[in-house]
Amino acid sequence: MTTSRLCPPPLTGAVAAEAEDLLRQLAAEGHLPADAAAQRVKEMTDELTATGTYRQSAEELLHGARIAWRNNPQCVGKFYWKGLEVRDCREVGADGDESALFEALVDHLRLAWNGGRVRLLLSVFAPSRPDRPGPRVWNGQLIRYAGYRRHDGSFVGDPETADLTEAVRRLGWRGEGTEYDVLPLVIQWPGREPRWFDLPPDAVPEVRVSHPDHPWFERLGLRWHAFPTISDQVLELGGLRYPLAPFSAWYTCTEIGARNLSDTNRYDKLPAVARGMGLDTGRDRTLWRDRALLELTAAVLHSYDQAGVSIIDHHFATKQFVRHEEREHRSGRGCPADWSAIVPATSGSTTPVWQRRYLPTRVLPNFSPQPVPWASGDAEG
Ligand code: ARG
Repeated sequence: MTTSRLCPPPLTGAVAAEAEDLLRQLAAEGHLPADAAAQRVKEMTDELTATGTYRQSAEELLHGARIAWRNNPQCVGKFYWKGLEVRDCREVGADGDESALFEALVDHLRLAWNGGRVRLLLSVFAPSRPDRPGPRVWNGQLIRYAGYRRHDGSFVGDPETADLTEAVRRLGWRGEGTEYDVLPLVIQWPGREPRWFDLPPDAVPEVRVSHPDHPWFERLGLRWHAFPTISDQVLELGGLRYPLAPFSAWYTCTEIGARNLSDTNRYDKLPAVARGMGLDTGRDRTLWRDRALLELTAAVLHSYDQAGVSIIDHHFATKQFVRHEEREHRSGRGCPADWSAIVPATSGSTTPVWQRRYLPTRVLPNFSPQPVPWASGDAEG
C-alpha cells in the first residue's frame, strides 16, 4: 500500500465534523427530515468509530454532489446545479479491476453524449478509505488530445497535455502523431501499476469546425471534442474524498474558440484564421487577432449547432449566471465565484458579470484540484 506520509488519512474527528455539517445542510435544504438527520449523525458516528470511515447514502451523494457544484467558484454554468445527474459507481472495480473502471467511464461518456443533447452528468467512484486511497485516472479530462513536444520546442497537438502525453508514452502507448490524437485513459489504483485503454470511437464524438460565411474555413481542419468531462478533481463531500468523479457538461463557445483553439500556448490558430480572412498580421494595430478570434468563436458556435450538439454562447451563460446568483441570494445563500473564471475570455465587458464583484470563498462540499498522479508514481489518498 502506498498511502504516503504526506497525506495522512484525515482524523476521524475532522471527518465526523464535516459529515455532520453536510447532514445539517441537507436537512436545512429539505432533503432530510430533522429527526432523521439526528439519527443519521449517530449512525455515521458509530460507523466512523468502528471502521474509520462511513458510507454515504445514495441521496446524500446526489444532493451533496449538487451542492458541491453550487459551491464551486470556477463554474459559470451553476444555474443548472439542481439538474446534475449522479451515477453511483462506488462499487465498480472495487476488487482492483481497472477494466471494469474503464467500461464504466466509457458508459459515462455515452450517457453524457446522449446523441448530442449533452447531459450534466457526474459519475462517482470509490472514495478514499484510511486503508486504501480511491482510484484515479491520469487524464485531466476523459477526452483530450495528445500533445507531442518537438525538439525545437514546438508542439503537434495540444501543448496542455504534453506532460501527460509523455507519461503515457512511457507506459508504451503510441499515438499516430496527428494534431488530434485522442489520448487513452490511464487508470490507476494506488499501489498498483497504471493501465491504459484506448477509447472506442463512438465514445468520442467530435465536431469539425466550419464557418457560416467562409467556405475556406473548413480547410483549416479544426475540430474539437463535443463536450468536456473533467476527471482530475476530487469531490470533497461530508468528510469523504472521491478522487475519481468525472463531470460532464456542455461547452460555452468561448472555451473552444477563444481559448483551446486560439491561446498561443494551446492550438494557436489565430494566425491561420487571420490569413484566411486576408488580414494584415504584420502589426497588432490592425486588430487581426481580435477579428480572427471573433470569427473562430462564431465558427465554433455555428458548427456545434449544425451538428446538433449542445453548446451555449457566453452572453446566455453569463445571464443565467446572474439569475443563479440572484436566486441564491433570495435563498439566503452567497454565491462563491472567481471573477476571472466567470467573465468570458472575449467580450467580457459586454456581459452582465463584468461590473459585478465576486468572492471566491471556498466552502465544502466542493470539487478541488489534486496533484497529478503520474509525477510521484503514487496516487493521492
Ligand atoms: N475549459 C475546459 C475545456 O475547454 C472545460 C471546463 C469545463 N467547462 C464546461 N463547460 N463545463 O475543455
